Amino acid sequence: MNRLDVLNMIIKQKKAKTYLEIGVQTGTVISKIQCSRKIGVDPEFLFSLPLKIKRLLGLVKFETYEYTSDYFFEHLAKTVLKDGVDVALVDGLHTYEQSKRDVENCLSYLNEGGIIVMHDCNPLNEAAAYTIKEHFNEVREKVKNWDLPGWQGQWNGDVWKTVADLLVTRPDLTVFTLDMDYGLGVVTRGKRSIDIPFSIAEIQQGDYAFFEKNRKQLLNLKHPKFIKEFIGIA
Ligand SMILES: C[S@@+](CC[C@H](N)C(=O)[O-])C[C@H]1O[C@@H](n2cnc3c(N)ncnc32)[C@H](O)[C@@H]1O
Repeated sequence: MNRLDVLNMIIKQKKAKTYLEIGVQTGTVISKIQCSRKIGVDPEFLFSLPLKIKRLLGLVKFETYEYTSDYFFEHLAKTVLKDGVDVALVDGLHTYEQSKRDVENCLSYLNEGGIIVMHDCNPLNEAAAYTIKEHFNEVREKVKNWDLPGWQGQWNGDVWKTVADLLVTRPDLTVFTLDMDYGLGVVTRGKRSIDIPFSIAEIQQGDYAFFEKNRKQLLNLKHPKFIKEFIGIA
């Protein structure tokens, strides 16, 4: 099971009609999502030639907006998302600030019963959780200079702070993380899932040691099978 399986399971069970993916890259996920309308946003798509051909032939269909998510939400979303979004994947720039803004922007277009899934919420080591200022190139530079001990090729950034932040600051949201695929955060409108004993300042200033010590609580970590119960699959 990975994010694709979970997203397709949610889409099927919820009879979702519109899927939005923030951060698409090669299109591996969006091209295999089974939903009648699919919308991808990324400032730099990296589609393979076979995928480009399949799209040209109409064998794989999804809409693309080659912009940052901030630009998309500020200038295009009102029109493009006028019928709302049923399921969204937030998988763009893996920073706390950006992922939080992406979730908040998705929430403002989320239809009744809609679900947001966030990738990369559960970094498995300190290198994967490296916090950048602006661009992924900062990670590339560190790796090139052998300056990221423990680097295993996976960067999740500090997206975990968005999950913890929402758990603390948004009593109107149900938030949890499936313990799979580097952490799949799930966000829906509903009542607060749990009370976690941390202040927003502790979360915002928290380093990897703080995260590692309190991982289960900060993410409201759940076994992957919990998603079935949550969306009502027996
Ligand atoms: C990890 S990849 C996405 C992978 C894809 N969702 C999947 O599951 O296969 C992250 C993508 O986010 C894009 N990205 C970076 N900054 C972004 C931003 N501000 N808005 C939207 N996408 C962004 C990058 O260009 C990159 O293609």
